[in-house]
Amino acid sequence: MVISTRGVVSGGKGEPVRVTEISVPEPGAGEALVNVQACGVCHTDLHYKMGGIGDDYPYLLGHEAAGVVEQVGEDVTEVKAGDFVILNWRAVCGQCRACQRGKPWYCFATHNAAQKMTLADGTPLSPALGIGAFAEKTLVAAGQCTKVNPAISPATAGLLGCGVMAGLGAAINTGGVTRGDSVAVIGCGGVGDGAIAGARLAGAKTIIAVDVDDRKLQWAKEFGATHTVNSRNGDPVKAIQDLTDGNGADVVVEAIGRPETYKQAFYARDLAGTVVLVGVPTPEMKLELPLLDVFGRGGALKSSWYGDCLPSRDFPMLVDLALQNRLPLEKFVSETIGIDDVEAAFAKMERGEVLRSVVVF
Ligand SMILES: NC(=O)c1ccc[n+]([C@@H]2O[C@H](COP(=O)([O-])OP(=O)(O)OC[C@H]3O[C@@H](n4cnc5c(N)ncnc54)[C@H](O)[C@@H]3O)[C@@H](O)[C@H]2O)c1
Ligand SMILES: [Zn+2]
Ligand SMILES: [Zn+2]
Repeated sequence: MVISTRGVVSGGKGEPVRVTEISVPEPGAGEALVNVQACGVCHTDLHYKMGGIGDDYPYLLGHEAAGVVEQVGEDVTEVKAGDFVILNWRAVCGQCRACQRGKPWYCFATHNAAQKMTLADGTPLSPALGIGAFAEKTLVAAGQCTKVNPAISPATAGLLGCGVMAGLGAAINTGGVTRGDSVAVIGCGGVGDGAIAGARLAGAKTIIAVDVDDRKLQWAKEFGATHTVNSRNGDPVKAIQDLTDGNGADVVVEAIGRPETYKQAFYARDLAGTVVLVGVPTPEMKLELPLLDVFGRGGALKSSWYGDCLPSRDFPMLVDLALQNRLPLEKFVSETIGIDDVEAAFAKMERGEVLRSVVVF
């Protein structure tokens, strides 16, 4: 049986998204059907709409979600109907060379549902990051469902499914931020503020938030920024050096995905420091750096896929920390909206008015 429901579809590069009827197959082997309760609007959804990720239109957008498992296919043992879950977009395979080496967060063969969701006329949809959760129901691989404590609100929990986890993990897992470190975060949206919250959780001493928008900098303080820098008003590299005894930060997280801000991150770190790129660039972007500086400044230039998280390890732990009031997850939710308001939420994101708009069903 095929289930008919409503979803937010991006039909072509730059076109406004539309809410339309979609068809969701019943879960087959290894799959789960999820009743989506909440799904955050991430900048990556906007990248999809604008053609920055690929050309596999139509996309079913939404990938930062929590909900309740409605039905599972045969052989599924990890979750069952009624479980409250956060959806993840890197369900690890357990068999590829990364998994075999004991580093499953790098898994090179993550999987999604085998069956396709479609438009009402049968056109197959490409679900954003293999999820597609701006929809009342979605079909995912069972491994994409991570069970967490249902005491947390779905709108808050869902944000761990992408942006907040990516930022938090970029600081803690990829950047290895630890007690006493100095950290700078360039770009303070949902992802950047996740990195700030992560740096605070890990015990960083100095946390410098950099953005071009004073409102964002004000919010960054609520997540733990000890200093803020508006890079419209001067050179952020100099400002970060001034705030770190002239040295630069131990770890700099770039949470925008642009060459010019990557260069700022590169030069704003201390010798032998670490740069973490968690912002996602678009295909035409190029980076040019003197190779001598790459050598001479030493340290590590890393990229962070999904905060190098392991959903089964990290989601339940972070939900527990939030429930203990040790991680202000609920502050990432700027507003809750309906399924018809995603296009308006993109505009608010571009104007810098929100950290996260969250669609609730
Ligand atoms: N690596 C991953 O796994 C992963 C996961 C989720 C999102 N992302 C990416 O992270 C990036 C950020 O996502 P988001 O949802 O936080 O976006 P967002 O739009 O909410 O935030 C971006 C922030 O950057 C600021 N900014 C823009 N240009 C700037 C500049 N030149 N200097 C300083 N600040 C600037 C904006 O004011 C805004 O506060 C996006 O590229 C997104 O695709 C990556
Ligand atoms: Zn693997
Ligand atoms: Zn995302």
